Amino acid sequence: MKVGVVGTGFVGSTAAYAMVLRGSCSELVLVDLDEDRAQAEAEDIAHAAPVSHGTRVSSGDYAALEGAQVVVLTAGANQKPGESRLDLLEKNAAIFREIIPQVTRAAPGAVLLVATNPVDLLTDLTTQLAPEQPVIGSGTVLDSARFRHLMAQHAAVDGTHAHGYVLGEHGDSEVLAWSSATVAGMPVADFMKAQELPWNAEVRREIDRGTRHAAASIIEGKRATYYGIGAALARIAEGVLRDRRSILTVSAPTPEYGVSLSLPRIIGAGGVLSTLHPKLTEDEQRALDKSAEVLRQARAHLGG
Ligand code: LAC
Repeated sequence: MKVGVVGTGFVGSTAAYAMVLRGSCSELVLVDLDEDRAQAEAEDIAHAAPVSHGTRVSSGDYAALEGAQVVVLTAGANQKPGESRLDLLEKNAAIFREIIPQVTRAAPGAVLLVATNPVDLLTDLTTQLAPEQPVIGSGTVLDSARFRHLMAQHAAVDGTHAHGYVLGEHGDSEVLAWSSATVAGMPVADFMKAQELPWNAEVRREIDRGTRHAAASIIEGKRATYYGIGAALARIAEGVLRDRRSILTVSAPTPEYGVSLSLPRIIGAGGVLSTLHPKLTEDEQRALDKSAEVLRQARAHLGG
């Protein structure tokens, strides 16, 4: 199984490294305008292969993407302190208009996995630029992981046993679906009560803040985020490569909202196999409608 990564900045190279450690694929090709950077990242990551799963790692031009089953798109600018993801739209849309035609020419059969922000609107744009290919956006897979991590911290359990979805925009308007959040298969409030752990509106506000503002806080401290998103991209790619029928809150065109946004979706060999619509409270549905509106308004500013 072959994966291409276009853009070997922090996110792209970390996603590639995560795929080598996880053995997500047998071959990885890194592509970047800065060929020296791509080559150096490929060489550095290749040194992890003999002590993990033996992935063949190389760098090349767009033609080297030929035969890839998944192409991860991370090229573009990332948020600076104080900048929102939506602020990146014009700049990164221009980059995508440049690179997507070259990717589709080289790898017409690949699932395109968009990570560059604003990921929902660039997922929309990629779908327009590559109408013949499946397109998935990383969406709120990372945010759902953050939500689960923080819930698990409060529940004092392993994060793989806390489950919850973040829906809508991968951004400030995202929606934490508290009504379906569980720990050990129990509604989170019931679990916390049974464990005699503190659980109230203030704890929920703290988890919401920690989820929604995680990127801003990390960027303040280290200028970029890449480990969480790198692992999320590897996990999504594996859903495709292994036809795992994984349920992940990826972003994809969502006709009932008129824009790409995140809902739980079943991911397999062909990309998104189906979209799930979890039961939401009236407040959660209102917030999701608002999130879709935020994305539609932002897209309206995108010329061309
Ligand atoms: C973040 C970036 C990937 O949320 O948008 O860390």
